[in-house]
Amino acid sequence: MPKTQSVVALRKTVAGVPIPDLVRQFGTPLFVYDAAVMEQRIEDLKKFDTVRYAQKACSNLAILDFMRRRGVLVDAVSAGEIYRALWAGYVPGGRPPGIVYTADIFDRDALELVVSRGIHVNIGSPDMIDQLGERAPGSDITLRINPGFGHGHSRKTNTGGEHSKHGIWYEQLNDCLRLAGRYGMTVTGLHMHIGSGTDLDHLAQVCQAMERVAGHVGQTIQSISAGGGLPVPYRPGEEYVDLDAYFQLWDTTRRRLEERFGHRVHLEIEPGRYLVAESGFLISEIRAVKRMGTNIFYLLDAGFNNLARPILYGAYHPMSICPSEGDPDRLQAVVVGGPLCESGDIFTQEEGGYVCRRELPVARPGDFLVIEIAGAYGFVMGSNYNSKPLAAEVLVHNGQPHLVRARQTYEDLVRGERVLKI
Ligand code: LLP
Repeated sequence: MPKTQSVVALRKTVAGVPIPDLVRQFGTPLFVYDAAVMEQRIEDLKKFDTVRYAQKACSNLAILDFMRRRGVLVDAVSAGEIYRALWAGYVPGGRPPGIVYTADIFDRDALELVVSRGIHVNIGSPDMIDQLGERAPGSDITLRINPGFGHGHSRKTNTGGEHSKHGIWYEQLNDCLRLAGRYGMTVTGLHMHIGSGTDLDHLAQVCQAMERVAGHVGQTIQSISAGGGLPVPYRPGEEYVDLDAYFQLWDTTRRRLEERFGHRVHLEIEPGRYLVAESGFLISEIRAVKRMGTNIFYLLDAGFNNLARPILYGAYHPMSICPSEGDPDRLQAVVVGGPLCESGDIFTQEEGGYVCRRELPVARPGDFLVIEIAGAYGFVMGSNYNSKPLAAEVLVHNGQPHLVRARQTYEDLVRGERVLKI
């Protein structure tokens, strides 16, 4: 058994609303987002010309609408995400474009949609140039370049280097420029995203790579995008990235390019996690407390069907307990798991599936356990495994909780299914 993880305390409210009130009104498992935290995160990034929200992190329409009203533009990685952006009121065209489609392929729906709605495409593979070129010759495009290196909080979130499927390999740049030229398409911008949850050292290397590649493409470049990847501190003791320093690096790169090209170069950033992670809380109810040998398990009504990050990456999330009555007087080291019929359904695990313990207040069934910093890649990676309905989502604004996605019903689970009676 690896070492015990660090202490987290009691929590009585989320976004200023008493947890028992939220549970009474909306049930559990429940995702709650604090609008004030998102507001602050948007503000943190205001030095960049454009903040483009990578909606894959949390794509609820209410969140997209919230971002849009605050001047944040949006990224989409699928036809579904384009529809979400449109339904949230984003307008495709413009400069910078309201919606950008960034992906390594077009599935047939996505190609149809970007062509019919005039969505700007950030190209991730040479085949996409052909496919778009045939349907929409003369389009402006941006290229997502894989600079040959990457870094993420896990190997699974590293999106650069030759083991990654993402972006256009930097040595294929000339081929892509030629290909674009054949369809009369202009490369107006470049984009690099080397991984999610990376660090400042790696992010800094991207600036140098960007300058090299942009210099090579030349004068047609009007915009550069730093991609996403900004980490947030999940574990106690972790720190925020120095955003001023990060901006300075990119601003210097941009200015050098402006000097070289003799025109303005627009600077974008494309965060997902940074904008929403800390706003989100997953509230669950402890349904059983049981002992297995030397381990005490808190078993919740939320599992990896609600939050997959621990089972996928061994990701750490802070946790806290909201007792249903009284205050516990001591902590104990426990394993926290969910309801699913699978041994890996454990929230306290490290990459590789090693179960570990967490110091949490003594709790009993009926108490609530809050998994924190769950706003990014939480609900959106949820599933119906074990026929569990997707959780409800609530957005708290000015102290008022608003239901922004109803809990799935059991009927929803079988929607579209058909019995053949054979
Ligand atoms: N831009 C592109 C092209 C991306 O591929 C991503 C993330 C982002 C922006 C946003 O990255 P962020 O700022 O959120 O780090 N499910 C994983 C994260 C996967 C990220 C995939 N791409 C997790 O839970 O950690």
